[in-house]
Amino acid sequence: MAFFNFFTQELAIDLGTANTLIIQDNKVVVEEPSIVAIDLKKNEVVAVGTKAMQMHEKTHKNLKTVRPLKDGVIADFQAAEAMIEGLINMISDKKRFFTHLKIVICIPSGITEVEKRAVFDSADHVDAKETYLIYEPMAAALGIGLDVEAPEGNLVIDIGGGTTEIAVIALSGIVVDQSIRTAGDEFTTDIIDYLKKEYNLLVGERTAEEAKIRVGSAIEDLVNPPDAISVNGRDLVTGIPKQIEINHKDIAKALDNSLRKVEESVLKVLEDTPPELSSDIYRRGIYLTGGGALLRGLDVRLSRITKLNVQVAEDPLRAVVRGTGMALKNSSRYSFLMDRKNI
Ligand SMILES: Nc1ncnc2c1ncn2[C@@H]1O[C@H](COP(=O)(O)OP(=O)(O)O)[C@@H](O)[C@H]1O
Ligand SMILES: [Mg+2]
Repeated sequence: MAFFNFFTQELAIDLGTANTLIIQDNKVVVEEPSIVAIDLKKNEVVAVGTKAMQMHEKTHKNLKTVRPLKDGVIADFQAAEAMIEGLINMISDKKRFFTHLKIVICIPSGITEVEKRAVFDSADHVDAKETYLIYEPMAAALGIGLDVEAPEGNLVIDIGGGTTEIAVIALSGIVVDQSIRTAGDEFTTDIIDYLKKEYNLLVGERTAEEAKIRVGSAIEDLVNPPDAISVNGRDLVTGIPKQIEINHKDIAKALDNSLRKVEESVLKVLEDTPPELSSDIYRRGIYLTGGGALLRGLDVRLSRITKLNVQVAEDPLRAVVRGTGMALKNSSRYSFLMDRKNI
């Protein structure tokens, strides 16, 4: 296989705040949490992705874990570059000596010019010869299978780790766009706060995230709710480890405030949408993607507030990387969707 890839190697990368995915030859070859572990004494990256995540919140004074992307922006440039390099190097089939490496990277739409340059620099470090950047809502729309070039409006909501991006797309452009920092990470923090307040229980980020995934819900009146689960943490009063039981209603209550913020932004985007596009959206409904789309009952909740049909994309955690892969494969057709740097 390596032989056939001798001259060009093409990679599509979804650089997410929570997860980074890479597609090569139409296959997802990397799907890892966006995190690195750094040895502070040697100032060296010791692990990336899942391995680094296993160390998260369990580190000591010579070791720290960093999530280089936070709130949809690159919070730590050096760590971001190290992570991108580390993840690309995970691809086993990397005979890159004589290859022409072409990369399309999907970036959060709130990224600044300086941050963009940092992403381009990371691509330089892995010897990319051609690098393109594509904005997340566009990649998400492509990945969902929408015709982004049509003179027709589509409303896409991508709820990732750091940001929720709400965009109306038509004629290959983003017509109206809102990016808010209320997304998966904040939902997780909401659960930590709720357990503190309601049960005097202090839990870590990973426990809270697991609870969100296992019994998470956006509404209390869920049809077919999951069974309650037990969560472990530290009793805030006694300081002793403790276990309690929680269910989907707890999570719905914990997330209510944040979900209201998401609703407000969706309503704002609908309000700012030109009327001809509104009528398209009325007919076509709303598409939900990103890991947050997996929250039970979120489609129902958004449908109740907007009175529109809400559809969860197939495999929402991978829609963006699939769309980025499509942009890569058809880079001449979709060139206007991307920023390019040639070396
Ligand atoms: N089943 C689920 N229910 C609710 N949230 C989920 C579920 N699965 C993943 N998530 C959340 O989705 C977010 C990651 O989504 P992703 O689209 O990969 O984000 P990003 O694009 O920012 O990397 C995380 O906050 C994660 O906790
Ligand atoms: Mg994403």
